[in-house]
Formats: sequence, structure tokens, C-alpha cells
Amino acid sequence: MTPRALIAGTGGYLPALVLDNDSLAARHGLDTSDAWIRERTGIRQRHIAAPGEMASDLAAAAARAALEQAGAEAAEVDGIIVATATPDAAFPSTAARVQAKLGVTRGFAFDLAAACTGFVYALSVADAMIRAGQARNVLVIGAEVFSRILDWTDRTTCVLFGDGAGAVLLRASTEAEVGRGLLSCHLHADGRFGDLLHLEGHPGVVRMNGREVFRHAVSKLASAVDEALQANGLSKGDVAWLVPHQANLRIIEAMGRKLDLPPERVVVAVDRHANTSAASIPLALAEATRDGRIARGDLVLMEAIGGGLTWGAALARI
Ligand code: COA
Repeated sequence: MTPRALIAGTGGYLPALVLDNDSLAARHGLDTSDAWIRERTGIRQRHIAAPGEMASDLAAAAARAALEQAGAEAAEVDGIIVATATPDAAFPSTAARVQAKLGVTRGFAFDLAAACTGFVYALSVADAMIRAGQARNVLVIGAEVFSRILDWTDRTTCVLFGDGAGAVLLRASTEAEVGRGLLSCHLHADGRFGDLLHLEGHPGVVRMNGREVFRHAVSKLASAVDEALQANGLSKGDVAWLVPHQANLRIIEAMGRKLDLPPERVVVAVDRHANTSAASIPLALAEATRDGRIARGDLVLMEAIGGGLTWGAALARI
């Protein structure tokens, strides 16, 4: 039997400092308002990493929580993949730093760059490694400190992002767990649209053409979702939960309507986290599995789009 990658544990970590929209505006002298931000994006607040708090710190905390929920020891981890656009450094990788922080001394560790789609990409890589028998237990983490790469004078981008990390422990399924685990992942990129959402300068600040990204998001996410369902012979009625990338409540709600899902079946965290890029799906997944909303046997659909442009979808039976 070819094993599947089972989501054995989830965990999240959010920095202590919380800024609501009014505090953010006051802190940076922004000409914006709580009403504008909430109406256009659904965002009410975001977490901001403390000075010196790095992506690997957030990632290690989320990973520890995922290991604990899975009842697994760090020593069992065969590999760590960190999806991030805000690594501690180009090298050593954030994943290698997480490895050291967890006290793991074997297996592989590497970072993966696909911006806000990073977690879906990382899931796909880990899934392929587990199916190939190359690893049995892989930590897949999304971790971001976007507050470090924002232009705090640009109100069109700086109000949209937040810091955080989410993690899952993927474990090779056993014969008794047939049918559970990741069903498939579907990845896409089109570098022609790289300028719509990119880092400008060095080390760089985020620049985004919000309207164009919004337009691409709705059509590309819809086609990735259709592709994932078709590949598994499933229909939208089979989906129990949508755990979307948390960029904008309007995009999230549009995807929920496309799937005919009632709002309570769509996991929303953007109001409290803002857009945490690669961390947003695993953070939302951790919340909804830990509070008991998502239960064993549920079919969960994940989708994301981000800089690259990159986009993709993944289906998992919990
Ligand atoms: N506060 C107040 N006004 C703001 C503002 C802010 N933070 N940011 C922009 N504005 C103003 C603009 O200057 C513009 O004013 P004008 O009409 O006088 O020129 C007006 O609001 C409308 O700007 P626009 O950019 O057209 O707004 P929008 O309806 O497209 O909403 C986004 C902007 C960013 C919320 C929206 O485009 C979006 O969510 N895009 C997708 C972004 C995304 O998901 N990115 C991440 C993908 S990973």
C-alpha cells in the first residue's frame, strides 16, 4: 500500500503584540480608518512580531504545538519544510534553524519560496516525499514576519498583513487509515504576473497592485478548486470545510459561495490575523481542528494565491 500523508497534528503561534486598525493607523500616522479596512478586507487586527523575534522563533513554537497535538516526539521528525517569504536569512535556512530549536539532529530541512501559496506548495512536496517512502514524519510550516518587509508609509499594503506561524505534522498513514490524508495537491505559477505583487529593492518592501491581484485571485482560485475536486471524482457537495488563504474576506466569501458552502463551513481568521502569507492556512487549520470544528473524516479543501503569481489547492481527508 502506498502511504498517504496524514495530518497528524496542527499548531499555531501568534506574536504577543496585537494592533487593531486604529492603533496601527495611530502608530504609523496612516491616513486610513477602521471602517475602510474592515469594509474592503474584513481585517480588524493583526499580530506583530517583537524586535528580534524571527520567523524561525514563530515556526518552532507552531511546530512544538503540532508535535504535541500529534503525540509525537521531535526525534521522530524526518524532515522540516518551512514555507516563508521572510526567512531569518538566505542561509542557514529558517527550517535548519527550526530543526536546531527543536533539538532535531537528523533528517532534512529546507525553506520553500512561493509567497502566500507557500504552504500549499510545501504540503505538496512533503506529500510526494511521504508517498515515495522518502520520509514518514514531515513538519510542514508556514512562518512569516511580514511586518519587517512592509512600507509603513504605503497605506494600500501595510494595513493588509500580519505576523504568525502555523504548522502541521504529516505522518505516513497505515493500512488501518485507508482513505484519510492528503488526496491531492495542485500547483500553478505564472511568472508573467510577477510585478503585481513583489518585493521592491533590497532587502525589499512589498508592492502590490491590489485590484489586479484581486481579479486574478477570484478566477485562478476557482479553477484550482475545480481541478482538485475533478481529480478526485468529488463534487462541491462533498466538501465539509473550506480552509482558504486569509488575504481578504471578500475573496474568501466569494470562494465559499462558489462551493455553495454556508458561511459556518468556511474557516475565517483574516479578521484577527490579517494576511499572514504562508502561515495563514495552517494557522486557520490549527484553530478549526483544535476547537473541534473540523473532525476526523471531514473533507477539507485548502486554496491559496500569492506572489509569483503562484496559486494552488489541496484536498485532505482528516
Ligand atoms: N485606507 C483608506 N483608503 C485607502 C487605503 C487605506 N488603507 N488604501 C487605499 N485607499 C484608497 C485608495 O487610495 C483609493 O482612493 P481613490 O479612489 O481616491 O484613488 C481607494 O481607497 C480605492 O483603492 P483601491 O486600491 O481601488 O481599493 P480596492 O477596492 O481595490 O481595495 C484592496 C484594495 C487591497 C483591499 C483590494 O484590492 C484587495 O484586497 N486586493 C487583493 C489583495 C490580496 O488579496 N493580496 C494578497 C494576495 S496574497
